[in-house]
Amino acid sequence: MSANEPVSDKQKKIHERVRSLILQSSDKITQNIQVSTGRIINTRIKKIESFKGAGGKTYVIEAALSTSLAGEVDGGIVLKFANDLDAEVDNAKKLAQLLTLRQADWDHWKKNHELGKRIKPFPDKVFAPDVIHVIPEVKALILEFLSGYIPLLQFSGKPADRWGYAGYALARLHGSKRQKTDVQLYSPVFKFLKTCIDEKILNYWIEVLEQSLGGVEFVHGDSHLSNLLISPMKIAWIDAILLPKLDRMDDVGYILSHAIQEYVADNIGISIDDSKLIYSITHSWVPLILTTYKQTYDISQIYSRLPLDFFIGSHLIIRAELWEKDIAAVLTRLGENFINEMPISKMLE
Ligand SMILES: Nc1ncnc2c1ncn2[C@@H]1O[C@H](COP(=O)(O)OP(=O)(O)O)[C@@H](O)[C@H]1O
Ligand SMILES: [Mg+2]
Repeated sequence: MSANEPVSDKQKKIHERVRSLILQSSDKITQNIQVSTGRIINTRIKKIESFKGAGGKTYVIEAALSTSLAGEVDGGIVLKFANDLDAEVDNAKKLAQLLTLRQADWDHWKKNHELGKRIKPFPDKVFAPDVIHVIPEVKALILEFLSGYIPLLQFSGKPADRWGYAGYALARLHGSKRQKTDVQLYSPVFKFLKTCIDEKILNYWIEVLEQSLGGVEFVHGDSHLSNLLISPMKIAWIDAILLPKLDRMDDVGYILSHAIQEYVADNIGISIDDSKLIYSITHSWVPLILTTYKQTYDISQIYSRLPLDFFIGSHLIIRAELWEKDIAAVLTRLGENFINEMPISKMLE
């Protein structure tokens, strides 16, 4: 939106409504701004971006906030219209609480451990934006706007750092508690996979999961590179589904399968060499993500066999359903390869 564009009546109404929401929630909007700002006296909307997700529509509204003590500061709100408002609010609040607890665990852990050199450069604080306001009449919630953050997907540094961030941020979300994975919760997944994977192989993976101590209080459940926002000082997770008692490698497999899906969709016109792609995932992305994950907590005691091939494969096969048939065929083929051939387990042997 530039200053010269004509503004329609509808846009004016939206701006007025957003302005009044910002003024109403003044205290909460400014609580995380480092300088002392006083109250928001006025706002000027600078940019509105919209995103359409499965759960509803999100507007990221950036504004210049005129404050009583600090003059004009950058800020904003995130306005999320949710199909299931109660679940959306509940998940956002739970995610923020969970990460506050994990931050306390982490502060404690650091007292007795030296930070590995690969994770030292990453921000110490991992958190989630607060829910500022709920508007049931229009099924919307307002979340704290994180100024100066970019989604990890847009990170333009080295690929090594991108996967490093992902592994570090996931490990910080999962924490260091050791508990069994609730394999029963994966019954629908195994039932679904029966249509394309041999039963003996599925039984092998069930046994691996039964032995796993990689269970966590919650997995993120939608852990892809656009749901992880980074800044020089802090990392934020957003948009979680929070599924309890699942396996930590589920989220690691999910983030990888999501990136594989994007790669396949972008390259479907060119021919995709399965074995080259699997080789580069196994020998580049996976070690990068696992290195920072492992430096955060020692997970070598948790798994005698790592279920990562299974999770990448199952997420790829499930994702295939969402795509048109050419892309779906490649995703299914790759998924079957991970589950049947276990290239990551073989590499780690
Ligand atoms: N609190 C926030 N601060 C800044 N940007 C945000 C915030 N929450 C979301 N965004 C931006 O909006 C995008 C969509 O938000 P998200 O909650 O993930 O909704 P969706 O359900 O559409 O994926 C994110 O990928 C991010 O770029
Ligand atoms: Mg999202």
